[in-house]
Amino acid sequence: MNVRNAVLPDAEGIRRLIAGHVGDGTLLPRSLPEICENIRDFVVAEHRGELVGCAALHLYGEHLAEIRSIAVQPRARGRGAGTMLVKALLREASRHGVQCVCLFTRIPEFFAGLGFQITHEPLPDKLYKDCRRCSRRHACDEIAMIRGELPQAEPIAAIAKIRRPIVAAGGGR
Ligand SMILES: CC(C)(COP(=O)(O)OP(=O)(O)OC[C@H]1O[C@@H](n2cnc3c(N)ncnc32)[C@H](O)[C@@H]1OP(=O)(O)O)[C@@H](O)C(=O)NCCC(=O)NCCS
Repeated sequence: MNVRNAVLPDAEGIRRLIAGHVGDGTLLPRSLPEICENIRDFVVAEHRGELVGCAALHLYGEHLAEIRSIAVQPRARGRGAGTMLVKALLREASRHGVQCVCLFTRIPEFFAGLGFQITHEPLPDKLYKDCRRCSRRHACDEIAMIRGELPQAEPIAAIAKIRRPIVAAGGGR
């Protein structure tokens, strides 16, 4: 198993991996153009030359980044690919000096094993980016998790002030 930064020829494989987990709401859909545009966010796992996993790190700023779009092909699971993908993204976040990495999941056990903790604190960046457009925003079953220091109350308030207040809370993938 090998994990590396994604390049554009990986985009269609990434799209397919993600699409396989959209129907049940596990992942948010990502179109091919969107994946191409954000290809530098992605890492991929390869096994014998075949793309078997992907994950992305979205940077909000030094205060926060989000792990998203993580999927490993069913037949390649249980061999450490998921762990390697998360660790690669954590290294990337650290390289950028990011103080807190968040994610939204239905499988907190997997991420707890990688040092993430459940949080009930508000994450306005995520609300603004995804939740307000999410069809499940009033019935979100995702658990917010963080690794590192959450942004202080003051920067959060500042962000919330700049951006329009969001009334509907909820998750997103
Ligand atoms: C979650 C996922 C990426 C894990 O990939 P993987 O390559 O199987 O993960 P690993 O082999 O690195 O597993 C590491 C550990 O996590 C555990 N684990 C894996 N999947 C898990 C799950 N769904 N729930 C709880 N624990 C899980 C493994 O048992 C293993 O534990 P161990 O070290 O004690 O044996 C993969 O199951 C997947 O693609 N799931 C569908 C998409 C999804 O749910 N994405 C997450 C959206 S937030």
